[in-house]
Amino acid sequence: MQYRTDINLTMDNNNNIRVRVGIIGAGPSGLAQLRAFKAAEAQGMEIPEIVCFEKQEDWGGLWNYTWRTGVGKYGEPVHGSMYKYLWSNGPKECLEFADYSFDEHFGRPISSYPPRPVLFDYIQGRVKRSNVRDFIRFNTAARWVDYNEETRKFTLIVDDLANNRTYSEEFDYLIVASGHFSTPNMPYFKGIENFPGVVLHAHDFRGADRFKGKNILLVGSSYSAEDIGVQSYKHGAKSVTLSYRSNPIGMDWPDGMKEVPLLTHFDGSTVHFSDGTQEDFDAVVMCTGYQHKFPFLPDELRLKTKNCLYPDNLYKGIVFNDLPQLIYLGMQDQYYTFNMFDAQAWYARDIIMDKVNLPSKDERRADIDHWLDRAAALKTHDDEIDFQTDYVRELISLTDYPSFDLDAVAELFKQWLRDKDENILCYRDKTYKSVMTGTLAEQHHTAWMDEMDDSFERFMREPELTH
Ligand SMILES: Cc1cc2nc3c(=O)[nH]c(=O)nc-3n(C[C@H](O)[C@H](O)[C@H](O)COP(=O)(O)OP(=O)(O)OC[C@H]3O[C@@H](n4cnc5c(N)ncnc54)[C@H](O)[C@@H]3O)c2cc1C
Ligand SMILES: NC(=O)c1ccc[n+]([C@@H]2O[C@H](COP(=O)([O-])OP(=O)(O)OC[C@H]3O[C@@H](n4cnc5c(N)ncnc54)[C@H](OP(=O)(O)O)[C@@H]3O)[C@@H](O)[C@H]2O)c1
Repeated sequence: MQYRTDINLTMDNNNNIRVRVGIIGAGPSGLAQLRAFKAAEAQGMEIPEIVCFEKQEDWGGLWNYTWRTGVGKYGEPVHGSMYKYLWSNGPKECLEFADYSFDEHFGRPISSYPPRPVLFDYIQGRVKRSNVRDFIRFNTAARWVDYNEETRKFTLIVDDLANNRTYSEEFDYLIVASGHFSTPNMPYFKGIENFPGVVLHAHDFRGADRFKGKNILLVGSSYSAEDIGVQSYKHGAKSVTLSYRSNPIGMDWPDGMKEVPLLTHFDGSTVHFSDGTQEDFDAVVMCTGYQHKFPFLPDELRLKTKNCLYPDNLYKGIVFNDLPQLIYLGMQDQYYTFNMFDAQAWYARDIIMDKVNLPSKDERRADIDHWLDRAAALKTHDDEIDFQTDYVRELISLTDYPSFDLDAVAELFKQWLRDKDENILCYRDKTYKSVMTGTLAEQHHTAWMDEMDDSFERFMREPELTH
């Protein structure tokens, strides 16, 4: 079969052919890339021709909530893993954009742990102002990539889902910003096929209402297990049991929540654990993490990694070492999020715009090894925070992305860990000071445990006067 090739060769003012950049995904990482190019354009620089392909009908990636599970309107696997009642699980002061503060967006202080719609609004504010929507082709899924060593170009085959049309385009650079918290890692446990209750992965969890009055089992001991557990407790689950494989989360859980070692097998609705105990459950949620999945990339271009702070083969955490025209954004495990994606996107932009000279492949390899060695020696969460802080710091030092006090952000992350340890139900009521503007966050009008409405309107409402 012959695919149609729509190649638009654009010329600059001197009739030179412009470099073409393809971006896969318009989540926070892909949007950071578009913003980075717009920032260069605002300084009078000529930017490449850019096309961003997004399979959903809107931008924002995971922050663009969907009620759907399974497949979407056009039969594509649903990307979204977020749920109703999801609130930021880290202080907003740690993820603030250095070039677009919360103050600038909201015009007044807000609390440190906003709900999803409020953060979605913040992400959108910056890109709306820089007019990047025209770069994005929505409802368009990347299907396959080929790289031609002679022409040194990528051919990207995409599906225009709304019009049921397949076409291809050529690019000089390809940026993969398709996220890595969407394809579930779903383990098998003996007897699970006969469990009579619901079994789902955190990816398909859309709200804790359904677990009211139920006994639920969560498998895993990371952020999803912690937050879905606390959400279920808050929304009236009868009991919440978390089952860990390596280490317990180790919080001082409220009555009705507990942690147990890994389950061994199911016997009907009874679940057996490795410490010899057993218990009956109504529902099981696998909070067992996600797979890095790139079904549109051939073997030799595919990033192969588990969820970790420094994926192998990526120079400066983004440049595919075997082929530096291929760039991955946001592929690491994330303490830092939005401002780390910015740091990566600004560096990627400068590579593409020839403002950075990449060292040789061997030198890049040595740099990767240096970070991998450091990553292998990390022992505590505080170590991990310092590691990712240094990584972000180095990237920012290489571009004109506005620098900020990263040590202060690292301190906020460490305080956040202590606050969670102190009280997992109340840590979202804490407030912190912005590193970007110095503004102290406002206390939310309602304690998080009593706040059952996560809407933008409710969040932004001024506190009610009680006298
Ligand atoms: C449940 C959950 C809660 C989280 N909560 C927080 C939080 O509170 N605070 C925080 O800072 N971070 C949080 N995160 C981390 C989250 O990873 C980042 O905030 C952020 O969404 C990552 O952005 P991204 O653009 O790299 O990936 P994503 O947000 O996943 O976006 C990737 C985009 O690529 C598109 N795409 C994928 N494949 C294709 C394809 N083949 N063709 C075209 N488009 C494609 C997707 O549709 C999507 O729009 C959370 C993650 C999860 C899973
Ligand atoms: N805003 C929020 O409130 C919120 C809520 C949920 C998630 N998130 C975000 O979502 C992202 C992903 O978090 P995540 O918790 O889903 O994934 P994750 O951090 O990668 O953790 C995966 C967990 O699954 C466990 N696991 C994997 N395979 C297992 C198996 N076969 N049996 C038992 N346990 C197994 C792992 O245990 P081991 O330690 O043994 O490997 C680990 O505890 C994070 O960035 C997080 O911040 C945010």
